[in-house]
Amino acid sequence: MIHDFRMPAVFRFGVGAFATLAKEIESLGARKVAIVSDKGLEKVGVVQRVVDLIEPLSVPTVTYTNIAGEPTFQLLQDAVETLQAEKCDLIIGIGGGSALDVAKATAALCGKSNLAPYLSGEETIESRTVKCILLPTTSGTGSEVTMNAIFGDEEQQVKRGLVSPVFLPDAAIIDPELTVSCPSRVTAASGVDAFTHAIESYIAIKSTPLTKVYSERAMKLFTSNITGAVHNGSDLEARVGMSWVSSLAGVALANAGVGAVHALAYPLGGTFHIEHGVSNALLMPYVFEVIGKTCTKEMVDVASFLQLGDFKSQPNEALKAVVDYMHQLLDDLDLPHTLAELDIGEDSLPMMAKQAAKIDRLLSNTPYQLNEQKILGIYQSAFKGREGI
Ligand SMILES: NC(=O)c1ccc[n+]([C@@H]2O[C@H](COP(=O)([O-])OP(=O)(O)OC[C@H]3O[C@@H](n4cnc5c(N)ncnc54)[C@H](O)[C@@H]3O)[C@@H](O)[C@H]2O)c1
Repeated sequence: MIHDFRMPAVFRFGVGAFATLAKEIESLGARKVAIVSDKGLEKVGVVQRVVDLIEPLSVPTVTYTNIAGEPTFQLLQDAVETLQAEKCDLIIGIGGGSALDVAKATAALCGKSNLAPYLSGEETIESRTVKCILLPTTSGTGSEVTMNAIFGDEEQQVKRGLVSPVFLPDAAIIDPELTVSCPSRVTAASGVDAFTHAIESYIAIKSTPLTKVYSERAMKLFTSNITGAVHNGSDLEARVGMSWVSSLAGVALANAGVGAVHALAYPLGGTFHIEHGVSNALLMPYVFEVIGKTCTKEMVDVASFLQLGDFKSQPNEALKAVVDYMHQLLDDLDLPHTLAELDIGEDSLPMMAKQAAKIDRLLSNTPYQLNEQKILGIYQSAFKGREGI
């Protein structure tokens, strides 16, 4: 098997890195800039900070902040039409995964005459004429370093990912200071999302010795920084740690892919509009209880990365320790434990299992083959919750 490994052309990380954005815009020779962000970030003044930074460059700037909640294909189409008409040659995405996914997909789709085959996933986007810089404000989806962009399909009531190497930006600028204002629930949900990327990419069929280095480091940093970042948002050291987790896990996700947790989470987002991070966090222990049985060695490794103990002499015990840790995480971060808590009715589970079973891109990257019946069993466990919870 031949493996590629891809990263953005520029990966810049550090407290204060935001201030270098102006230099990056100049070096890309931009003539008209679009800032893509969401309503929440506009409210906390982040969009204005970008406008102020660009002003001395005398480069015309437009803003697109029509994003409220996780984006849909319809919204993406609106963003492309709006910014194509503005004839921007650089798109700056600043925000969580929602804003970054819109920014990178818009940059890749601007100039294409017929969007339909790209939006349906029938055709891969092979080229991009508009430049793109991404700055994350959550930690996170890792969207600034991935080749994916995820959108809700309102007609089908599902979430779907578009995948293309041209979604990698010209520059990813990660300034942990931008995450300090991130509310604790978003910090918790997006932080556990990053952990899901790390653990799923570690066991992924497409993982390599190189991607495993990223997954491992992300898990080690996650366990020592997540609680601080969630419960004391102004703890800059924890924010720096979580920003590394997000990017490291994002690189692992981009090059090894993720698996069943994400496949089972998609119907929660698509049909019930549950936040992506919350869906992944809730389902992760129930999914791993099943799929972890086929990756005993990896579970021993993960238990060690998470400082849960040395299970080399009793490898079959490692999975339980990892699953217990995942449940404890939900408690510690005040995240929901069951589908029932999210008001998802038990009668919806078969429909969700049918939808998730179709997501072959993710299920085939998981070292335990889940069919519709087994997926239904996992949803039923996640509905009831673990005994005693
Ligand atoms: N492209 C990828 O590789 C990838 C990977 C995982 C998830 N995703 C997608 O990313 C989306 C979720 O992204 P997310 O979890 O980062 O959340 P988000 O982008 O949806 O943001 C959630 C909320 O937090 C607010 N917010 C974000 N940063 C803030 C800050 N610093 N200060 C104040 N408010 C802030 C936003 O305004 C928003 O209201 C989903 O659509 C998911 O499918 C994409």
